[in-house]
Amino acid sequence: MSIISKDISKAIAILNSEELVAIPTETVYGLAGNIFSEKAINRIFSTKKRPLFNPLIVHIPSANLLHSIASYVPEKAKRLADAFWPGPLTLVLPKQSTIPDLITAGKPTVAVRVPNHKLTLELLEKLEFPLAAPSANPFGSISPTTAQHVNDYFEHDIQMVLDGGYCQRGIESTIIGFEGEEPVVFRLGSTSLEAIEAIVGSVVVKNKKEIAPDAPGMLDRHYAPLTKTILTDNLLQAIELNNDKKIGVLAFKNQIISEHVIFQLVLSEQGDTVEAASNLYEALHKLDKQDLDLIIAERLPEFELGKSVNDRLQRATVR
Ligand code: TXA
Ligand code: MG
Repeated sequence: MSIISKDISKAIAILNSEELVAIPTETVYGLAGNIFSEKAINRIFSTKKRPLFNPLIVHIPSANLLHSIASYVPEKAKRLADAFWPGPLTLVLPKQSTIPDLITAGKPTVAVRVPNHKLTLELLEKLEFPLAAPSANPFGSISPTTAQHVNDYFEHDIQMVLDGGYCQRGIESTIIGFEGEEPVVFRLGSTSLEAIEAIVGSVVVKNKKEIAPDAPGMLDRHYAPLTKTILTDNLLQAIELNNDKKIGVLAFKNQIISEHVIFQLVLSEQGDTVEAASNLYEALHKLDKQDLDLIIAERLPEFELGKSVNDRLQRATVR
């Protein structure tokens, strides 16, 4: 029995009864529940097998509601919200006392964003509460960019996936927190640093666990296929070194010609980092289904979303 449906009123009924619905966003599908329902939020953590110390993102329909979530909004946060919402940018701000500790893992801050997806904005507008929604995948595994991916993970655990088609941006939102008035990037994502710096000037990036113990979830192994994965600047050399294995290749823009490669995908024939990001997880899901010994992924150029894709690929290689 399929749990995939486009029926918004059904989604509302399920969420109102403190159960979970997977929702589409422009980045990835989220596993959503009422932020004020302890039952729903506990269910999010247990369904994902996610540690309780890893806080959730609150999704709201409009920036007008930001003040009901955050107790203080720095000037630069306002500018970023104006520039990018609805869109793939999450702001971490001091929380209002009404935001449950379960959402923030006991932290004094809360992560919040306005997603840019027609169906989910309509849903959020009709609900009487915001939605907490981590990516709809078991902890550590590849994030879902189609309703079918979510169904493959959670068919037996949740009642419904709201079908919003393919997630256009394809990797998670960029997360920005603040040290005083100054923005700090906690997670690279679908909004490029270049675009952010055009709005607020230069920003510090603290997206590694060692330097940002404050951003849980930036754990090492993440976004990972079950198949062993390596990342390289030199595909042909890495293929040669592993030529006794069943190899799948994830190339940036040029196909590789090699008798040792049994399956390969190209992220963007145009060499466009935005297109590459939008295809990344779908490609990893496909590669993971090919019964390979090894996935060899090619590093992207380190600009715009190339940085974000490399970040995800790097985490996919950790075993
Ligand atoms: O694009 C996205 O952001 C997707 C869609 C569904 O909106 N959501 C998503 O959620 O990626 P999740 O749970 O997979 O990642 C949320 C990240 C975690 O790494 C968590 O540590 C961080 O947000 N986070 C949440 N609250 C935080 C806080 N108060 N301080 C620092 N980091 C926080
Ligand atoms: Mg996630």
